[in-house]
Amino acid sequence: MNAIVAVDKNWGIGKDNDLLVSLPGDLKYYKEKTTGNVIVVGRKTLESFPGGRPLPNRVNIVMSRDPEYSRDDCIVCRTKDEVLEKIADYDEEKVFICGGAHIYNLFLEDCDRFYVTKIDEAFEADTFFPDLDELGYTVDWESEVMSEKGIQYRFMRYVKP
Ligand SMILES: NC(=O)c1ccc[n+]([C@@H]2O[C@H](COP(=O)([O-])OP(=O)(O)OC[C@H]3O[C@@H](n4cnc5c(N)ncnc54)[C@H](OP(=O)(O)O)[C@@H]3O)[C@@H](O)[C@H]2O)c1
Repeated sequence: MNAIVAVDKNWGIGKDNDLLVSLPGDLKYYKEKTTGNVIVVGRKTLESFPGGRPLPNRVNIVMSRDPEYSRDDCIVCRTKDEVLEKIADYDEEKVFICGGAHIYNLFLEDCDRFYVTKIDEAFEADTFFPDLDELGYTVDWESEVMSEKGIQYRFMRYVKP
């Protein structure tokens, strides 16, 4: 399965339950990659989406440990095993782990491909993605450098060592 994430120079991914920066080109890329596919998110990330609602045209799976938490607009799973059971119905290439930090860590070992947007800035962050360079993952594709809002970034794909 895949993970998709935007990180800064320090592998920071968020602050105060929001993204570090909103880059239209990156949001477009995220939409292109995930539309028509399955996304798995933690409750906090779902709450950070526009209107706190699931993303359209995707199967949204949200994780919460709270037995009282229920929603009729997406699939709620309470354990990793429950998620694995749900996604077994889909081609693993169609499944994207979409964060936040708790969910990325939970599925790190299960992901083969990581679509990482590397933002060439160091923001103040309170949430981080594991440093794939330090962990020995390798890059098998990267885009040209792009620039928006005076910020440079590029898309990279990491694969398991
Ligand atoms: N840069 C990016 O690409 C990107 C992508 C996604 C998110 N983010 C950022 O990441 C931050 C949110 O990340 P986060 O780590 O704080 O929260 P999160 O992973 O989105 O959600 C955490 C919640 O998920 C549930 N959960 C976690 N582990 C679980 C498990 N093992 N089993 C069942 N449920 C589990 C719990 O919900 P309950 O409390 O309901 O039990 C927990 O409070 C935000 O700042 C967001 O903007 C950034």
